[in-house]
Amino acid sequence: MCGIIGYTGTDNAVPKMIKGLTVLEYRGYDSVGIAAQVGKKTELVKCKGRIGSLEEKLLVNPIENCSCAIGHTRWATHGGPSDANAHPHRAGNVVLVHNGIIENYKELKEELSAKGAKFLSETDTEVAAALINDCYQSCKDPIAAIRQATARMKGAFAFGILFDGYEGEVFVIRRGSPLILARGKDGYYLASDMTALLPFTKEYCAMREDQIAHLTRQGVTCYHNDKVFEPEWKVTNMTPESAQKGGYSHFMLKEIHEQPEAVLKSISPRINKAGLPDFSCDNITPDFWKQVKNIQIVACGSAMHAGMVGIRVLEDIAKIPTTVHIASEYRYHPPLMPDGTLVVVISQSGETADTLAALRYAKSLGVPTLGIVNAVETTIAREADRRIYTYAGPEIAVATTKGYCTQASVLWMIAAAIAHARGLISDASAKEIVNSLAKEVPAAMEKMLEQKDLFHKIAKSLVGHEHVFYIGRGMDYALSMEASLKLKEISYIHCEAYAAGELKHGTISLIEPGTPVLAISTEADLFDKTESNIREVRSRGAQVTLICREDIPVRKESADEVVSLPVSSPAATVFSALIAIQYIAFETASMLGCDIDRPRNLAKSVTVE
Ligand code: M6R
Repeated sequence: MCGIIGYTGTDNAVPKMIKGLTVLEYRGYDSVGIAAQVGKKTELVKCKGRIGSLEEKLLVNPIENCSCAIGHTRWATHGGPSDANAHPHRAGNVVLVHNGIIENYKELKEELSAKGAKFLSETDTEVAAALINDCYQSCKDPIAAIRQATARMKGAFAFGILFDGYEGEVFVIRRGSPLILARGKDGYYLASDMTALLPFTKEYCAMREDQIAHLTRQGVTCYHNDKVFEPEWKVTNMTPESAQKGGYSHFMLKEIHEQPEAVLKSISPRINKAGLPDFSCDNITPDFWKQVKNIQIVACGSAMHAGMVGIRVLEDIAKIPTTVHIASEYRYHPPLMPDGTLVVVISQSGETADTLAALRYAKSLGVPTLGIVNAVETTIAREADRRIYTYAGPEIAVATTKGYCTQASVLWMIAAAIAHARGLISDASAKEIVNSLAKEVPAAMEKMLEQKDLFHKIAKSLVGHEHVFYIGRGMDYALSMEASLKLKEISYIHCEAYAAGELKHGTISLIEPGTPVLAISTEADLFDKTESNIREVRSRGAQVTLICREDIPVRKESADEVVSLPVSSPAATVFSALIAIQYIAFETASMLGCDIDRPRNLAKSVTVE
């Protein structure tokens, strides 16, 4: 939920902190701060607000001769956004930055207060610093102090820690929250995610649960259980450009435009020479798919909405009974798990705490699990029994676009693989689906991207309204849910998604003259019924936009505005509708002057439950 970074080496550390934190801002932007070692002293500079505010402070009081530092960008949990609550936090000889939540911080705080500790902030992090310092005062050994203190902490954390007297040394530990180590030409790094380090290096190593790392100017030593070892460095294929805007005004816009290629990247590794669906690159065989009798998809937010698309294709194409569950609710009302159940967790970041908890719950019951994940080597990817990467590339905008669309495309491909493995569809039909996902979908999405002016016009008609409705049936209800989330998330306009036929059972009372209703219709056989629902709202004065298959003759009086969707295949129609709903949300938020890439109150990676 927060972003942390650290460096020790021979180069100037402060500009590296600023550069890395700027990339990490998508993880939280309530406050920002750095701790910089200058000689034997550690200076803390921190403030409420964004990187710009920190840079202003550093202009007034520049830090020079610093080659070892840690930094933090915060999404507030314990205590509101303020200078005092901003990280880093100091306690005695310890200064630290933290991503995660210490669940038992209250009891620890009471205990430490009774021993005389004083606290300047409302954060759980300061308590963690005080506990590590307390242990350090008795053992005088940073590694032992970190071990002893973290053994008493409940919750999730990734810490970057400086100890007075340890010049040029950074100590690191993670449990539950992500953390990457990296090696550059001029030193060693830590960060919540690799994108922050791409300007400096491509060599990285993902830290394991409860692993401690000790970074010095000369190298890194890791400690895990009783083992002491050096990291195994790998080289990422991400480029610094992949984490930059590349000429677009916003990351979201860039990521919307990257979708045709992203779908291709997610599908092509899973096509064999015969043009059939084949997940052998993920170590999944047709026999595995054959054993699956029912699927439970568990995820949050847009990933859960991708699961709603999954239900449609897994049931229609593969005939596998499928349910979708909100991850944060899964453990409280777990569904029955008959033999042959496969739990599929979906997560772009691979770190969402609710999804991770659901995955661990399913594993504790001994049910096979499969993760559909974008960010490589993240906790969910590692802990799921099997994993399928979506290969969407780094997604920086808080509002997901290519993350969601690649999740949906992979689910579609899984449906084809299961149907083919079970002999429900012929080679020819399987190839047709594969071809549609790999060729027709990217082409249809490209075509939709050309309709920017129309999306702009529709967005203009939404500006000034407090409430908007998306309606659709079947697959289009699933798309409506994502469309509604996208619009409210970045434009702050209240938007509800309704199954088109359900509106008349109560919510239609909210329709007034001028209320915007956007209807989606990608399924030809459901159009007549959706059109009846459109008439119901229209006769009550609603302003209607219809996002509809191009082969359906739309009556003039049915809608104020029509977006026509290519019909080269069912998938092409669905994925091009996706471009329309994302673009409409983007244009609306843009007209309203919203902070599109960093909407208020949100963070990209939600690593708290
Ligand atoms: O990283 P995840 O896919 O697990 O994230 C799940 C949700 O938090 C995420 O999809 C969220 O709903 C998006 N910001 C919506 O655009």
